Amino acid sequence: SKKISKICCIGAGYVGGPTMAVIAQKCPDIEVTVVDINAQRIAAWNDKDVNKIPVYEPGLSEVVAEARGKNLFFSTEVDKAIDEAEMIFISVNTPTKTYGKGKGMAADLKYIELCARQIARVAKNDKIVVEKSTLPVRTAEALKSILHNTGNGVNFDILSNPEFLAEGTAIQDLYKPDRVLIGGDSPEAIQALVDVYACWVPNENILTTNVWSSELSKLTANAFLAQRVSSINALSELCEKTGADVNEVARAIGTDSRIGPKFLKASVGFGGSCFQKDILNLVYIAKTYGLTEVADYWEQVILMNDHQKRRFADNIVSTLYNTVSGKKIAFLGWAFKKDTNDTRESAAIYVADHLLNEQAEIVVYDPKVPEEQIYADLDYLNTRSEKENRNLVTVVNDPYEAVNEAHAVAVLTEWDEFKAYDWQKIYREMLKPSFVFDGRALLDKEQLKGIGFEMYTIGVGEEQ
Ligand code: NAI
Repeated sequence: SKKISKICCIGAGYVGGPTMAVIAQKCPDIEVTVVDINAQRIAAWNDKDVNKIPVYEPGLSEVVAEARGKNLFFSTEVDKAIDEAEMIFISVNTPTKTYGKGKGMAADLKYIELCARQIARVAKNDKIVVEKSTLPVRTAEALKSILHNTGNGVNFDILSNPEFLAEGTAIQDLYKPDRVLIGGDSPEAIQALVDVYACWVPNENILTTNVWSSELSKLTANAFLAQRVSSINALSELCEKTGADVNEVARAIGTDSRIGPKFLKASVGFGGSCFQKDILNLVYIAKTYGLTEVADYWEQVILMNDHQKRRFADNIVSTLYNTVSGKKIAFLGWAFKKDTNDTRESAAIYVADHLLNEQAEIVVYDPKVPEEQIYADLDYLNTRSEKENRNLVTVVNDPYEAVNEAHAVAVLTEWDEFKAYDWQKIYREMLKPSFVFDGRALLDKEQLKGIGFEMYTIGVGEEQ
């Protein structure tokens, strides 16, 4: 099969950046260029201070430091990179549509289509085009149709290669993937991509399927993962009412090898750019085929997640004597999970929105999320004016400043450092009674009760 010497990746985001950095590090003979139309993002990837790259992931800046300028490049010259590469990854965003048919459900494929048209316009020799973005079933067909009608005699092979990395552990996941999935119909093209991964991934971990199985597998994997979270979260509410502890229940059922121990942590709700978007997409596809029961089944995973965020906020209000108006509530964490600076669909955003509707004053501390991002997330909801958001929400760089004179602390992200804080000191700084709402079951409930806190831990009921 053809040996690849130059790769181009369109989209320098949370997937394109880390994935290409690892390919470059592991395949020193391949030159990898990551391009993006967002010039600010590319400038950040090229920042001399490698700690200022736009994606925070443990271990990522080290990989970038090693490969950047050697065989890893970040650029805004999209046409040039397309022209020179034999293999082009498309890793652009595929958000939920916000307009027209399928609004709020279907994936918006306009960015993908723009990429396909750009490749069709620029390419002068044969290319392998790899879908890295998560795409609805049969998108490859649309790509093929756009690319094959250029009339310039160039041949395009299209592969689906969905990415299974999890943010927060992206580098480890890329180094040791449970599997790499490649869907396609050209054996030579498939082999060319297998050869890239074979630089570091054992052959038995590289699966090949037809294109549609591959596309659907990614949506299915995210649907199953999110479904586990909603299942344990549904039980967390029952545990709270009955005096059980959802963490004990999770431990007990997780020992069943058919269930397994992972991804059974109750929380204030899942977030991230993928789970909700991909399930909505699955629901939309099922509806398109008239499969109402299938669609309703998966939609319930989202409804449960919305309920979990909502009830966490409602519980704060009712516990604080049915009013939070003018009360200071300290948010520990804003990112959708620990070890990432990504806030897309973070539970914190929605909990904050509910509390702001009740006129709470929120002070946010997150170790990695900058102030502008927090305001941008709230503004995007369009619930209130930008001015009101800035009046009601303060962002601080010191957790002890956040808790000063606060009525309550709410833990929204499971950052490790929150466990190590001086909770005696936090108790002294807060108003009394001092409430802690632990949305991640992160803190030691008994220890904090011993200090004097009024504790609420998600999924943990009071023994009757
Ligand atoms: P992102 O939003 O962080 O990055 C996408 C980038 O593509 C942006 O920087 C944007 O400026 C750029 N872009 C859009 N159109 C372009 C064009 N025509 N030319 C050049 N650049 C363009 O998105 P992220 O998180 O990297 O996700 C990308 C895809 O990967 C999505 O389909 C997502 O569902 C999928 N995915 C995401 C995972 C995650 O953990 N974030 C995991 C697995 C898959």
